[in-house]
Amino acid sequence: MSGLTIEDGGAAKRNGGVGLFLRRWMANPLQMGSVVPSSPALGRRIAALVERRGDEVVVELGAGTGAITRALLAGGVPAERLVVVEIVPDMAQHLARAFPGVTVVQGDAFALPDALPAALRGRIGTAICGIPLVLLPIDQQRRFVAAVEAVAPGRGFLLYTYCITSPLPWRALGLTARREAWTPLNLPPASVWRYRPAG
Ligand SMILES: C[S@@+](CC[C@H](N)C(=O)[O-])C[C@H]1O[C@@H](n2cnc3c(N)ncnc32)[C@H](O)[C@@H]1O
Repeated sequence: MSGLTIEDGGAAKRNGGVGLFLRRWMANPLQMGSVVPSSPALGRRIAALVERRGDEVVVELGAGTGAITRALLAGGVPAERLVVVEIVPDMAQHLARAFPGVTVVQGDAFALPDALPAALRGRIGTAICGIPLVLLPIDQQRRFVAAVEAVAPGRGFLLYTYCITSPLPWRALGLTARREAWTPLNLPPASVWRYRPAG
């Protein structure tokens, strides 16, 4: 894990990081899962699904260049209650510059208990996943589910996807699944699923 601080956010805000996103897709398409950042419309739908009480935080996993981060802030999540995790160092740097006040963690979402500050355990209202889990084998999907459960017991997570049906085999993963939003205003059109631990 490495925590990042913020310097000048001007340039990062202006260009939105589209070039950086494309370069990362060319370098590692499976890790990125998309050629372009998510749309503002998808971001608004995700922001509307956030659940957060009192001093709980929202954790965004796989924040990329911040398309969803921006929408979460615009949707009312205070910067000091937003934690974003991104594995690619250049992107984490970009996020730290673009979003002053947001806690940016450069780390691996599959190792969340190590990556997140210990004080956040059990204080996560909503976890949002932008990582293309559908492309991963089920043992890695299990690791992801266990990592979220370790830091946000019982809360589950939101996952946005281009799949028409559930991108995760939820029964095999011990989850319940519900598609809570869809928008054609994304390239490609996207759905938002909410998964929670079953029983
Ligand atoms: C589909 S992009 C989403 C980016 C952004 N949230 C958006 O919607 O435009 C997936 C992002 O997840 C990041 N990522 C992939 N694997 C990760 C991991 N294990 N831990 C943290 N971030 C990861 C990638 O680097 C990439 O930025």
